[in-house]
Amino acid sequence: MSYGRIKATQLIDKVTTADEAARLFEHGMVVGASGFTKAGDSKAVLDALARRAEKEELKITLMTGASLGHDTDAKLTRAGALAKRMPFQVDRVLREAINRGEVLFVDQHLSESAELLHNNCLPPVDIAVIEAAFIEADGSIVPTTSVGNSVTFAALAKRVIIEINTRVPEAIYGLHDIFQPDNYPHRNVIPIVAPENRIGRRSIPVDINKIAAIVFTDIQDSPADIAPPDAKTIAIAGHLLRFFEDEVKKGHLTDRLLPLQAGIGKVANAVLSGFKDSNFYDLRMFSEVLQDSTFDLLDSGKLSFASASSITLSADCYDRVFANLQKYKDRVVLRPQNISNTPGLIRRLGVIAINTAIEFDIYGNVNSTHIGGTNIMNGIGGSGDFARNAYLSIFVTQAASKDNRISHVLPMVSHVDHTEHDVDILVTDIGLADLRGLAPRERADRIIRNCVHPEYRESLRFYFDRACQLRGGHTPHMLEEAFSWHNRLREKGSMK
Ligand code: COA
Repeated sequence: MSYGRIKATQLIDKVTTADEAARLFEHGMVVGASGFTKAGDSKAVLDALARRAEKEELKITLMTGASLGHDTDAKLTRAGALAKRMPFQVDRVLREAINRGEVLFVDQHLSESAELLHNNCLPPVDIAVIEAAFIEADGSIVPTTSVGNSVTFAALAKRVIIEINTRVPEAIYGLHDIFQPDNYPHRNVIPIVAPENRIGRRSIPVDINKIAAIVFTDIQDSPADIAPPDAKTIAIAGHLLRFFEDEVKKGHLTDRLLPLQAGIGKVANAVLSGFKDSNFYDLRMFSEVLQDSTFDLLDSGKLSFASASSITLSADCYDRVFANLQKYKDRVVLRPQNISNTPGLIRRLGVIAINTAIEFDIYGNVNSTHIGGTNIMNGIGGSGDFARNAYLSIFVTQAASKDNRISHVLPMVSHVDHTEHDVDILVTDIGLADLRGLAPRERADRIIRNCVHPEYRESLRFYFDRACQLRGGHTPHMLEEAFSWHNRLREKGSMK
């Protein structure tokens, strides 16, 4: 055991095993756990909780920053340990249980969970489980690869369990900027005017008397699965980069653009990778997750600084980043997610937000969360925090998938996460539609012209033209046909 990682030596007698720590949980409790996009999550205690729940009735409400790694959500689901889960997940087993109605899921803007907890609008947190690199002499927690909601959980939970992960070097100290806004009605401005501003402390404050157990682990974060760019993602990235170049030519942006936010996944990775060979320079990110492409851009000198709430990396990149922590620490900061995703800061900094849609419609409404209007995929994550408040709100998706049986551009989305009012630019592998300043009928014309897969273009045009002729209105629709594409897919296996 690396007791040297517990600088508050009076806490050494709190060291125990994960199984012992898991005995602190009781049926019906609310648990707040660290972890954001598989980074900095509990690797031992939640695992032990799942094992306990296999043998006895033990259901909890689990809040985290975002998704967890190491199949933890799947293990908890299989053990029947989850009554309710929030604010985000990406796990197949949990997703299926949610869609069967067995686990309740609250799909929440990632900036909002901490607000709701501080405003006492959610049930109080009984136990926090937080991964740490080490514990400071005052008992405060130095987090690992994410900050997420851990600051709020540590402040509000009745008891705190700390998982010290010795796989993470103590040199990570200084990567984090821990700041919390005052509670209402005494809230002041958050004094960030550039992504590189640091405004807080380096560790998460916690009442030392609440620390109930300390567990040691030595387990790396689950690696991010990053699919290499393919023809579609390269095409999407190409359309976007040409759009940015045009914006520079028009004088709307400079070669330094504005701070970038990019969601996770292969499209975001391809777009960011595309910057490597571009003329843009001195770029900055103000995002929620940093993935491999961020570190490639930092190394290439294109990116000067990156701010986020977590780092989610492939196994190779993880080793590279940890071997060079000192170098990256001056150019990367991790913040609590209610700061990285604060709507006011996103507007103030003029963030260019690039997120992925499951589908969008001819008027620009975006569905990021549901399949067929019914089944949850992952959740809204931070896409809403960024999209509504961004300088440029961009959504990307493939025009069609599954041998073109599914069109991702539709008459009407089957679920709305981002309304037409929050969406500026839509991009598919076919092309890009700039919707700024366009009325609904103009938007429909541009989206059909630029973004739709050729196999669906004519039928979408036919729908729109008939809606204009037969119904008219500001936003022409034929409601009896608006979901016919989804119905066809469900009944016949193809939207064609
Ligand atoms: N019916 C059935 N399946 C459909 C469908 C429909 N109407 N529309 C899409 N799909 C399927 C696709 O075919 C694809 O299936 P596959 O996984 O078997 O290939 C899947 O839904 C969507 O996958 P893909 O288009 O490859 O999306 P992705 O992996 O890039 O993820 C989101 C897209 C939207 C699910 C993901 O980005 C997300 O969860 N976003 C919300 C959170 C977020 O944006 N956070 C912000 C920053 S991290």
